[in-house]
Parts: sequence; structure tokens; C-alpha cells
Amino acid sequence: MTNLEKKLILFPPTFQWGVASSAYQVEGAVTEDGRGPSIWDLFSHTPGKTVLGENGNIACDHYHRYSEDISLMKNLGVTHYRLSVSWPRIFPTGRQKMNVKGLGFYDRVVDTLLSHNITPIITLYHWDLPLALQEQGGWQNRDTAYTFADYAETMVSALGDRVKQWITHNEPWCTAYLGHFSGEHAPGIKNAQVSVDAAHHVLLSHALSTMAMRATQSDAKIGITLNLSPVYPKDPSQENQKAARLQDVFNNRWFLDPLFKGEYPEELPTIFGVNPPENAGDMEIIRQPLDFLGINYYSAQVVAAPPRDQEPWPVVNITPKDRVTAMGWPVIPEGLSKLLVDLYTQYPEIPPFIITENGAAYEDVVEDGKIHDTERILYLSDHIEAVADAMVQGVNIQGYYLWSLMDNFEWALGYSKRFGIVHVNYSTQERIVKDSFLWYRHLIRKALS
Ligand code: FCB
Repeated sequence: MTNLEKKLILFPPTFQWGVASSAYQVEGAVTEDGRGPSIWDLFSHTPGKTVLGENGNIACDHYHRYSEDISLMKNLGVTHYRLSVSWPRIFPTGRQKMNVKGLGFYDRVVDTLLSHNITPIITLYHWDLPLALQEQGGWQNRDTAYTFADYAETMVSALGDRVKQWITHNEPWCTAYLGHFSGEHAPGIKNAQVSVDAAHHVLLSHALSTMAMRATQSDAKIGITLNLSPVYPKDPSQENQKAARLQDVFNNRWFLDPLFKGEYPEELPTIFGVNPPENAGDMEIIRQPLDFLGINYYSAQVVAAPPRDQEPWPVVNITPKDRVTAMGWPVIPEGLSKLLVDLYTQYPEIPPFIITENGAAYEDVVEDGKIHDTERILYLSDHIEAVADAMVQGVNIQGYYLWSLMDNFEWALGYSKRFGIVHVNYSTQERIVKDSFLWYRHLIRKALS
């Protein structure tokens, strides 16, 4: 028995063993059945924005192959599946006129999942904002928060009888920072004030939609998913601890503090050089009690203070790179247990956790129709063990969703990075299960037996 297998006893029978995906990364069919364009359609079609100019026009063609993909999940033995809804399929221009055909797709997906005994958990915003809303300022515009709440309410009214777990946003840090500060993601804006304002409006939209969904469906369980990455100082010297604190504000507390303390960290202006918007009453709204916190964990960081004659931020990243994934992300499983335990102690108001994403890209090789992805198996095994280690320390963790069921469109990196436990041949759309798929199946079986 492996160490992990010995620890499986810690996972309760209700534990959610899942896989995760998102709409624009897998669906394709971008002009079908009345779907409107999103900011990612425009961004990925803009020269120079994605590797090889790739886009999600076809992706994994999941829009047409969902049934086959759900059969794969059944074969895998997962109890849950995390998907996201494409807002512009439901509201092609963001608001008002609902597109019945777009909703029909998710209706079919949900029913197919349930008929296979797989429980869906839905993310409402995994980055594909309707382009029409971007033309009105997107997340920079406070109105978008209210429009998002209307969309959320529509979704819960339509599917809430069958879908009980809802995630408002996936990784607001990426929306705010990658989308509006570094410009690496859609909509490709590079402006500190816009970034900080967008973050605030995303948080507000999270809270307004939480209230609207609860008013519509009282048994809905609602949370938000943050990408969190713990930070370690190089050594306990005061200057390096200060550097770690700043990086922690940047990576984590920018969103954690408003959600679970009702305030922004005081260091935020040191990082961005600007202040978040001050709107009376917003912080009280943003601090809505939640049913769970979704956590996406991939890596951690070790940092040091910048040289004395420089600004305090950005800090110097000195994370060891002896073990990295194809993304260049250092593999630090113990960062996950530390993160979970620290969150539990640092935020008294924090709800139970669900690991909504964890996984790794590696350079997979197809050999005689097989993919022996031993590094991915090791990555997954180490991280699930880290979840168990946090559970031993008393942390309430309700689920683990592996990113991802199948290889897919990895945003600005196009199809160059493969995170799936199922290989996708993008020329034929053939799916081939990798060794990690068989490994995960075995693990889930053992855990549930
Ligand atoms: C996360 C995203 C997900 C995927 C993984 C690798 O940041 O939520 O869509 O791209 O990273």
C-alpha cells in the first residue's frame, strides 16, 4: 500500500471526487445556437495574444461530444464534475434577451450527468465575459456586477432544482490582474487603477449574485473559487518577512481579506500605487457568509526583499526550480497543506474548503496509443496526500477536483500545454486515456470502497 492509500481512510464517504473544466476551454461551437461573442473570442483572434494564434473555436468540441465525455467520467468513477457556463450562450449580449438554445445545452449536460450519477457543480464566470458588456466597460463598470447577479439568478432559476452547488467566480485574481494589469489575458488591459477597480466589481458581483441566488433557491450552496499560492520568506529576517507579506497580499489577501474580513489589506496601494474604490456599504455586502471556499492550488513561492535602493514591490522570487511542471511551476505539495491549515487559523469566518482545481501540465508522449505520464501521477498523488495531511490537522475539506478531465485550450498558451488525464488529438478529436486516468480511477475506487 502506498502512503496515500493508507491515508484514504481520512476521506469521508461524502467526499467529492471530481474533475474540472471550463466552457471556453473545451466547448468550441462558438457561433452555434445563438451564442454571442465573448472577450476571449476577440482576444484569441487578435494577432500576438495567444501562442500560435490559437483560439477556442473548436477546442475539444465538447459542445457536440459532451455525451461521450460524460461516459468517460462515468468510466473514471468520479462522483462530481465541475463545469462552467458560458455567459454569452445564455445572454448573447450579456443581458435581457435570454437564449433558450444556449440554456438547453447546459440542461442536457446536467441531465446526462445526473443520469450517470455524477453531481454537477457549476461555475458562473470562468473568464468569458460577453463582448457586448466589455464594450460598456466590462468589469471596470460597476453596472456589470448587477448584470452578473441577474445572469446568476437566471441560471439558478433554470437549473437550481437539479444543481445544488454554485461557484460565482473562478480566480478573480486572474480576471483582475492578468486581464487588466499585465494584459496577458482578455480583455488585455494594462492599467493599475482599472485592475483594482475590476477586482472590486468582481467581488461585488460575487456578493450580489450570492444574495440573488439564495433568494431564488434557498438550498443552493454557494462559494467562490480563488487561486491561492502561499508565500515563504527566504529566511526569518524582518526585510524578507515583509517581502513575503507583500507577496501574500498580492497573491492571496487581495481577495481573501475583503471576502472574509470585510476589508482590503492596507498594503494594497504599496503594490499597485493606487487605492481600491471606496463605496459606502460595499465591504459589508462583499463579506457574505459562504457555504464553501473553492481553492485552486498549483504551486507556492519563496521570496526575498528587493535590493534596498528599490521599491518594496515587486519582491524577488527565489523559489527552487529543481522540480517543475511543463508550465515551469515549481512542484510544492506541502504548500497545499500549509495553505489549508493557515487559512483555517487566520480567517475565523472561513467556510469549509473544496479543492476546485489541482493538476499539472507535462510534455506527454503518445507511445503505441498509450501515455505513460508518471510525473503527473506523482504530482497528483503528492497533492492528494497533502489534502489528507491538512485533514489530519482538523481542516474541513469537502472535495478534490482534478484539473482537468482532458487536454484543452490553455488560454494564452493555446493548445501547447496539456493538463488532461485524457489525451486529446486535436486533428481527430480522438480521446485516449492516460495512465493518470487509470491511476485516479483506482484511487477513487479504493477511497469509496
Ligand atoms: C487555472 C484556470 C484553469 C486552467 C488552469 C491550468 O488558473 O482556472 O482554467 O487554465 O489554471
